[in-house]
Amino acid sequence: MAEYIHVSVAWPYANGDLHVGHMAGNFLPADVFARYHRLKGNHVLMVSGSDAHGTPIAVEADKRGIQAKELFEHFHLRFLDTQKRMGISYDLFTHTDTENHHQIAQDIFTKLLERGYLYKQTQQQFYSETENRFLPDRFVEGECPVCHYPNARGDQCDNCGSLLDALDLINPRSKTDGSTPVIRETEHYFLNLADFIPQLTEYLATGKEHWRPNVLQLSRNKVPDLVGRPITRDIEWGIDVPLPGWEKKKMYVWFEAVMGYLTASIEWAKNNGTPDAWKQWWYNPAAKIYNFLGKDNIEFHTIIWPAELFGISGIYATPAEGAINVPYDVPANEFMNIEGQKFSKSRNWAVWMPDILERYDADAIRYCIAASFPETKDADWSWLDFVQRNNNELVAAWGNLVNRVLGFARKNFDGCVPAPAALSDEDKAILAQSEAAFETVGTLLSEVKLRAALGEAMALVRETNAYLDRRAPWKRIKEDREDTGTAVYVTLRVIDSLKILLAPFLPFTAQQLHHYLGYDGQVFGDQAIQTYEESTRDHVALTYDSSKVVSSWTPSQLPAGQQLREPAPLFKKLGKDSAEEQAIIESERARLGQVQAS
Ligand code: MF3
Ligand code: ZN
Repeated sequence: MAEYIHVSVAWPYANGDLHVGHMAGNFLPADVFARYHRLKGNHVLMVSGSDAHGTPIAVEADKRGIQAKELFEHFHLRFLDTQKRMGISYDLFTHTDTENHHQIAQDIFTKLLERGYLYKQTQQQFYSETENRFLPDRFVEGECPVCHYPNARGDQCDNCGSLLDALDLINPRSKTDGSTPVIRETEHYFLNLADFIPQLTEYLATGKEHWRPNVLQLSRNKVPDLVGRPITRDIEWGIDVPLPGWEKKKMYVWFEAVMGYLTASIEWAKNNGTPDAWKQWWYNPAAKIYNFLGKDNIEFHTIIWPAELFGISGIYATPAEGAINVPYDVPANEFMNIEGQKFSKSRNWAVWMPDILERYDADAIRYCIAASFPETKDADWSWLDFVQRNNNELVAAWGNLVNRVLGFARKNFDGCVPAPAALSDEDKAILAQSEAAFETVGTLLSEVKLRAALGEAMALVRETNAYLDRRAPWKRIKEDREDTGTAVYVTLRVIDSLKILLAPFLPFTAQQLHHYLGYDGQVFGDQAIQTYEESTRDHVALTYDSSKVVSSWTPSQLPAGQQLREPAPLFKKLGKDSAEEQAIIESERARLGQVQAS
């Protein structure tokens, strides 16, 4: 029976371009997973959007001397373009400044307030007397009280990763002008997380064998000590608090951004003219919600968001529809470093997606990232690896296998899939192996062990190359045309299966190969950047249309006699020889750390 799979992807702050870290930590794992489930015939709803609010946006807008809205709109459009080019197949990639998101976030606030989960409390906060405003935590810097790193941000220390309270910083200073802030009192709403300790304890206690151990451990450790957390801020840019007298304050960005998983699902359903369709993922007890994010965001997804969901359970539903779903799995990823060093925006130690997409194909980039997904430990993006993986694994192993067989069949068998004679044990063995791979690779993908899944599929590529070398049709054709046809037939069948096994990782070349193998229709659906009226605001979003999809997660049924099409290489070799390869690697490395005015 087809399953309902929700793929919730962490919403990137629209304050700078997307980089390899975003791809490795959130978007690409989510996309591979979603594509696999689509091929399985499951009902996938994959959503995310630009995180438009919060101090990360305000700080960057200040720095550039523009309005927060202008900054977010600029990067939102760039996010759409980058992700379309990378083939990140959201059913909807929207943003948190839509009318829909504002409205539902306010409904959720109201519901939590009515149910008694919110309380008001006066808090102390840094105030800048030079700027006449309260300073959000991110606008204050100082020495980390935990590790004594001198440039910790008020909300979090980038050196030791501790979440901080700005008031605990040693020698605090304003990020904007370096002045020393004073402490003033301000009133805020708090979400009483202590109310949810029993539900969260139960949620994390059982049926979590499929969770990554670090995610589960970190989350379980936090629950017993939960207390109230402020969910409003003294800031100008964000979602209004729906209460009179609170016009100067906004909702805390994390409080409302996580709601995006729900609000985007509702927006998607409305756009499709099926306004209740989102409930198949959110109110269906058999549906599974997966959250894809980096390790620095774990507790927002395993504690705060589930607490909010427990608090609003039943929202927009009848009593018969039961409780709203909480995440089924939160397969958080570690970080992707760059050439052995931590990503740093300020030092420009980063590989920016719009930049590398100018020089390399999306599938080559996707492959290289996926081959070292940081699933269990930090991984490293290295240009040497990129060039070698591209040239050895994609071009020489997979691409070359495809090309030699397709080229040979077109030349010697009238451009058609030859009819097989009797299959030898060797022929049967490789076919059986390719069929079994749907089970092994599929199981790994469904367990979100994506790197291992890719490894299994590539092992089959190597086996198939070895099989073809042993069968050597280019020699055998002179002696036994019929048996040669059998070898070519078998290899084409395995390639056709590999096309599907690799498709979640390599969707663009899978489509190309699908076409060369003589099929019509699509392996996956079409992505489009659409502009539409979202209530009162003009809205631009990335959408997905699966109406032309013909493929599925099943072994090849390639029929003998099918007409093949003229193939072209699936991948491009980087550099003609090792000197040229080295030159590419060096020029890429030289771009790192070059700080440019943006
Ligand atoms: N904008 C946050 C970041 O880039 C992630 C938000 S995830 C969400 O770190 F769930 F809150 F949307
Ligand atoms: Zn620290």
